Amino acid sequence: MIELTSVTKTFGGLRAVDNVSFRVNEGSLTAIIGPNGAGKTTLFNLIAGALTPTNGHIDFMGKNLPPAPHKAAKRGIARTFQNVRLFHDMTVLENVLCAWNTGSFMGNSIWPIGYREDERLRMKRASYILEDLGLGDDRNTRAGDLPFGKQRMAEIARALALSPRLLLLDEPAAGLNRTESAELGKIIRHIVSGGVTVLLVEHDMQLVMRLAERVIVLESGSLIADGAPSSVAGDPRVIEAYLGAAEC
Ligand SMILES: Nc1ncnc2c1ncn2[C@@H]1O[C@H](COP(=O)(O)OP(=O)(O)O)[C@@H](O)[C@H]1O
Ligand SMILES: [Mg+2]
Repeated sequence: MIELTSVTKTFGGLRAVDNVSFRVNEGSLTAIIGPNGAGKTTLFNLIAGALTPTNGHIDFMGKNLPPAPHKAAKRGIARTFQNVRLFHDMTVLENVLCAWNTGSFMGNSIWPIGYREDERLRMKRASYILEDLGLGDDRNTRAGDLPFGKQRMAEIARALALSPRLLLLDEPAAGLNRTESAELGKIIRHIVSGGVTVLLVEHDMQLVMRLAERVIVLESGSLIADGAPSSVAGDPRVIEAYLGAAEC
């Protein structure tokens, strides 16, 4: 579904992503791990079209991915951010409805009658997603008043609004307690079982090991391991990368 070929992104002299190649199959759940500064978020920015690769290319559904966020969104790539980016003064429902105003998604809304129909369908879809993610009772709550765990869920709900094929989750468990993290795990599984392909950047190793069928490890921009969670966890290079960074 998505294929990166020798992708490099440099910032000045820094190789934030360095010659990374991998391919992800449709319907899979792949975790991307690595110490802070390894290039994980930069990789997501490249896939989401927010950054252009310095070298290499990214294909999505067999076609080159243009480096523009609205085009990536239109082709079915959605994301959440490492730091939650909700509109705090808007309700949870309004935040989800916002998804339709971000990309270049027009639908058939140029005609008034189509517009009303679009609105109705959007409201229905937004409500359905909120129910599905356990936020049904919070739809009219101001987003800034939600507990942090629910803010993360609301951000995922907004990402799901446009029915993406590929969902990029950047450290969704950061700041969550054990119960919230377990709940998030269930939701991610549920999303994948609905046919959405998920790339998960996550520091919570329990969550990664429990959820992911495949783990890709980055260190200093380079891909240093790629395989089943159990084999990656025992890989000396991975252990070294984490010990070297005094993490985990
Ligand atoms: N816009 C930017 N300009 C300059 N350097 C950046 C930028 N974004 C990220 N970096 C640098 O690239 C490296 C990788 O960062 P990042 O992708 O955020 O890592 P991770 O998400 O794995 O912690 C870091 O050294 C970071 O400081
Ligand atoms: Mg990051």
